[in-house]
Amino acid sequence: MTNVATGIPGVLSIRHLPGLREVSRQDLQTLLDTAQRFREGLDRQENFPKSLAGVSVVNLFFENSTRTRLSFETAQKKLGASPMNFTTSGSSAAKGESLRDTARNIESMGADVFVVRHQSAGVPQFLAKHTKAVVINAGDGACEHPTQGLLDALTMRQHLGDLAHREVAIIGDIRHSRVARSNIWALSTLGARVRLWGPATLLPRSPLAFGPSVSIAQSIEEALEGADAVMLLRIQHERQSSGMLPSLREYRQSFGLDHSRLKLARPGALVLHPGPINRGIEVVSEVADGAQSVILEQVTNGVAVRMACLHLLAGKNP
Ligand code: CP
Repeated sequence: MTNVATGIPGVLSIRHLPGLREVSRQDLQTLLDTAQRFREGLDRQENFPKSLAGVSVVNLFFENSTRTRLSFETAQKKLGASPMNFTTSGSSAAKGESLRDTARNIESMGADVFVVRHQSAGVPQFLAKHTKAVVINAGDGACEHPTQGLLDALTMRQHLGDLAHREVAIIGDIRHSRVARSNIWALSTLGARVRLWGPATLLPRSPLAFGPSVSIAQSIEEALEGADAVMLLRIQHERQSSGMLPSLREYRQSFGLDHSRLKLARPGALVLHPGPINRGIEVVSEVADGAQSVILEQVTNGVAVRMACLHLLAGKNP
């Protein structure tokens, strides 16, 4: 067993990670390079520097999660932390305690780091303002999901190399997707081009705000043509009843990915999905589980990315 403490690069210019919009190219590269080192260490079952030993990390999850919550907890334990886990159910938030009071009470128990998922946009910035803890966003409303954007970029980089000038198609409910937003910001900063496609009601209202490297496709064929990577987004069934989605059958016909459509993309193009998947709706199982899918690699990279974020933002001697 070796130790990966040596060779883990860099320090960040940021104190918190509320999103990727404001993260510089240099900080993105440092996060991704560090995550790559951790990923190699995970593959080799190496020992890791216990840079979070003595650091009090609290996972505040006000929304459900499988991948993000468990991979943060795994990352924290691998770096020597003993995390505390808060979920709304069973807490005094269920009795109406405010977010500010909840956070300040937990901070009074000695919390150094908050990893927060919340249904409202802006909660990570709110916590950064009202507490002294380092804050890492694990998904806020429809705003950002920065560690997802990083793990997606890491997965693409592992297969495609430098992402500059690469073409990435993102298909589905873009308007309400924090995953799409964080990917758009990270990919643009790294020099990739992003094409968006989905039902008209679920496309962004102001796509120009994303900058010149992001475009809206006119058809699924245009979105897929020659793409290096195709990212499907989860269809949120709650949008169907609100009239924002066609029927699931129509959605599958116009926006679903199957083998024949995937052939429009570059040969060997990557298929990504943040999960959870609605099989047979946004992607057929044969593609989700097929040779071009990197969906489970995304999940493994999620542990490495969250180790990198925690190590660089809150670790001792990062
Ligand atoms: N990708 C993602 O955020 O999944 P969870 O909701 O399961 O954490």
